[in-house]
Amino acid sequence: MIDVNAEIGKLDWSREPQGLYEPIGYTLAAGGKRVRPQLALLATKLFGGNEEDVLPAALALEVFHNFTLLHDDVMDKAQVRRGRPTVHVKWNANTAILSGDQMMIEAYKLLSQVPENKLATTLRLFNQMATEICEGQQYDVDFESRTDVTIPEYMEMIRLKTSVLLATALKIGAYIAGATEEQQEQIYNYGIHLGLAFQIQDDMLDCYGDQATFGKAIGGDIAENKKTYLWLTAAQKGAIDELAMREESMTQRFERILAIYDRLGVKAAAQEAIRLQTNQAINCLDALPQNQYTDQLRAMAHKLEERTK
Ligand code: IPE
Ligand code: IPE
Ligand code: MG
Ligand code: MG
Ligand code: MG
Repeated sequence: MIDVNAEIGKLDWSREPQGLYEPIGYTLAAGGKRVRPQLALLATKLFGGNEEDVLPAALALEVFHNFTLLHDDVMDKAQVRRGRPTVHVKWNANTAILSGDQMMIEAYKLLSQVPENKLATTLRLFNQMATEICEGQQYDVDFESRTDVTIPEYMEMIRLKTSVLLATALKIGAYIAGATEEQQEQIYNYGIHLGLAFQIQDDMLDCYGDQATFGKAIGGDIAENKKTYLWLTAAQKGAIDELAMREESMTQRFERILAIYDRLGVKAAAQEAIRLQTNQAINCLDALPQNQYTDQLRAMAHKLEERTK
């Protein structure tokens, strides 16, 4: 299997002006789990395709993901990512915006290298995903100032901001390998459920994770009044008034909200939701060809369910 990290390492960012390209190199060299390109490659191999054909799209997906992180960290006022200062902290917001924009363009340049007879459809799938992420990000921001968000609305928001990227990575991999439309849909749905579990787990780690391992500051979602699975479950259990913003320090707020979560057993509810989505993801694989790659996708779902970073 192609080494995704090595391929990303081959991208050269030592260009002028440094102010534009250095933050891109900084971001891509900081690691990350590389889940999305791995999914694209696994999907291609599952359907007997050639990894080399999907590689440009796999790299495009990872560069695009990293672009969304640069802008997301500005929007979320996040100070740390992958254990390092975020780009808008190390440089400034203008840098995060413009280097982010350039990363998006670089993603499209990579994408344009997929085999020509596959390009039009790949581009259409990629564009739809990109638009949906923006829609999800807007809902995420809109929800900060709302207290009546429902869990179904939240699930739709995270489907858009997180799941579609994982699902599209898989679908592009399957499409390029020549899978049938039905198979592409099935593996896309695996990705949707995988992504829902992934984002609920991300919400959990934002509260209960260890900063050194997770690489992001703990409590960011509470500080920004994000409507996470935890927040919404607590609200559903009657804690809306208690969850409201008060005049208090961020540490006080974090501890106060965490005590509410503990009292209401919100963590267990989130874990149950993760388990459910993971199982639904795995069920989507039943209708696909069964080989070592289907097994790897099952293992991947369980691994992500247990992740601490
Ligand atoms: C972070 O994605 C954004 C979310 C969808 C939660 P990852 O958790 O995949 O981040 P990296 O790339 O591994 O750092
Ligand atoms: C991730 O949501 C969605 C996108 C980056 C598009 P989060 O805001 O929860 O991701 P992290 O926690 O900052 O990685
Ligand atoms: Mg964020
Ligand atoms: Mg965000
Ligand atoms: Mg998060």
